[in-house]
Amino acid sequence: MIIRTGIKNCLCRRNFVVLIFTAIMVILVYSMTTERMTAIRRLISKIQEKPVLCPVPISQESITPLKNTKHLLVSAFMDRRVKGFDIRIIGIFKRDSIHPLHCSFCCGSVFNETTPAKILPHSYHFSFPFGVADVLCPLPKNCDASHITLLTNPSANASEHTFIPVRNKNEKIRFNFTVCVSNLFGEYNNVLQFAQTLEMHKLLGVDRVVIYNTSCGPELDRLLQGYIQEGFLEVVPWPIDKFLKPSWGWDITKYPGDMHYFGQIATLNECMYRSMARSRYVLLNDIDEIITPYKHNNLVSMMKTLEPNYSDVGEFLIENHIFPKKHFEPSGRFHLPQWEKVPGINILEHIYRESPDRTKFHPYKLIVQPRLVEQTSVHFVVEKFGKQYKVPMDLCRIIHVRVALQGHLKLEQLNEDKRLWDFQEKLIPNVDKALKRAGLIPAEEQN
Ligand SMILES: *[C@@H]1O[C@H](CO)[C@@H](O)[C@H](O)[C@H]1NC(C)=O
Ligand SMILES: *[C@@H]1O[C@H](CO)[C@@H](O)[C@H](O)[C@H]1NC(C)=O
Ligand SMILES: *[C@@H]1O[C@H](CO)[C@@H](O)[C@H](O)[C@H]1NC(C)=O
Ligand SMILES: *[C@@H]1O[C@H](CO)[C@@H](O)[C@H](O)[C@H]1NC(C)=O
Ligand SMILES: *[C@@H]1O[C@H](CO)[C@@H](O)[C@H](O)[C@H]1NC(C)=O
Repeated sequence: MIIRTGIKNCLCRRNFVVLIFTAIMVILVYSMTTERMTAIRRLISKIQEKPVLCPVPISQESITPLKNTKHLLVSAFMDRRVKGFDIRIIGIFKRDSIHPLHCSFCCGSVFNETTPAKILPHSYHFSFPFGVADVLCPLPKNCDASHITLLTNPSANASEHTFIPVRNKNEKIRFNFTVCVSNLFGEYNNVLQFAQTLEMHKLLGVDRVVIYNTSCGPELDRLLQGYIQEGFLEVVPWPIDKFLKPSWGWDITKYPGDMHYFGQIATLNECMYRSMARSRYVLLNDIDEIITPYKHNNLVSMMKTLEPNYSDVGEFLIENHIFPKKHFEPSGRFHLPQWEKVPGINILEHIYRESPDRTKFHPYKLIVQPRLVEQTSVHFVVEKFGKQYKVPMDLCRIIHVRVALQGHLKLEQLNEDKRLWDFQEKLIPNVDKALKRAGLIPAEEQN
């Protein structure tokens, strides 16, 4: 009995030592591997942060001339919605000289294989010599392209061409609403209306505004810088006038030039694709237009109401309603002293709305689900996968303060509409803050 116990005790002690030893080894090995794992993970993230190696000329510009052609490249995006194709390039093409093109890729190194490009010119070019064209490219096997270009001759030396980056490769939805404002040009300096409009977008739940800048006035430039730093505004340089003679309008007989309205169709489509992978909805409207819900406090709750019935709608049409700037609200309660020296229109002072003339073409503006749209124009979508829905005007309209559209109408013929005033309590201090940040109102005049 005693001996047995002795042996047992002895065995127990040995087992105990083995157990402790094993435990220590396990802990040691575990800590070593996890340390190695974190080191490897750190290395991988470092490699991912580094720009992808691509030994060719790469353009970081918004507009890149295409070698051996009169065309311009704007952007390239991953887009697998059309069967057989992987990448969509948005370009500005000379319409009378469209010839076959070949897609060339950079996937770590310059890939020697090209694929045939499919060119889809947009139908809305308003008869100008240049128009927008989409170019669809299939990827060759085993090529995860970081950059792309187009060749006129498939056996040309691709290394002598300029490549552009392929966007939307690792984007996730992080915005509910993005507003795409097309073009800023002609030293535009309507600062007060722009600040009020941006702050209204914010109150309505917009997360990002994208704007294409050809030129702007000095005060507006200062205002924009503040919004860029804050991360609300994305300004894309748009030096279209360095490459073409842009028209100032849509009517080539009145405003001759190479391309419609500073390339508005190109910027609207570029913005829609730029937003496609990161924003649930995109609003396509002008700089002085506010897509405003009339029955909801913001766009989020309005779209929540529409979503159950209209989830397959790609294009929501919103009626444009003009508030002529020549008619002022009589009490002057929003004619604020601190805004007197700020250039631009004070939208809170204009509350008289024209009834749209429904016998004529009605210029809608759009809320789109970008993933359901392929090509857009200004007032409607041209190619889409989803449906269209005209949003009733009692639910949502565009508040558009500008020169009268129906100038013959008398004040009594207009409708009083104080919808903007519902937001004044937050809107006014927010506008003041933005103007102060830009140094456009002195600190002592605030409050
Ligand atoms: C591309 O390079 C690969 C490997 O170097 C070669 O086998 C292939 O024939 C080349 N293709 C073309 C179209 O030159
Ligand atoms: C292609 O162009 C690059 C850059 O000019 C040059 O280094 C390379 O030798 C050329 N390749 C061929 C096959 O001509
Ligand atoms: C988007 O809207 C949802 C409500 O539908 C909200 O919870 C979320 O915070 C919003 N996201 C952003 C980025 O504003
Ligand atoms: C807009 O473009 C003009 C002309 O290139 C430039 O002077 C100005 O600084 C730009 N403004 C912003 C906010 O990018
Ligand atoms: C959605 O459809 C239901 C049933 O047809 C209808 O009662 C409701 O009013 C619709 N909602 C909207 C916002 O159109």
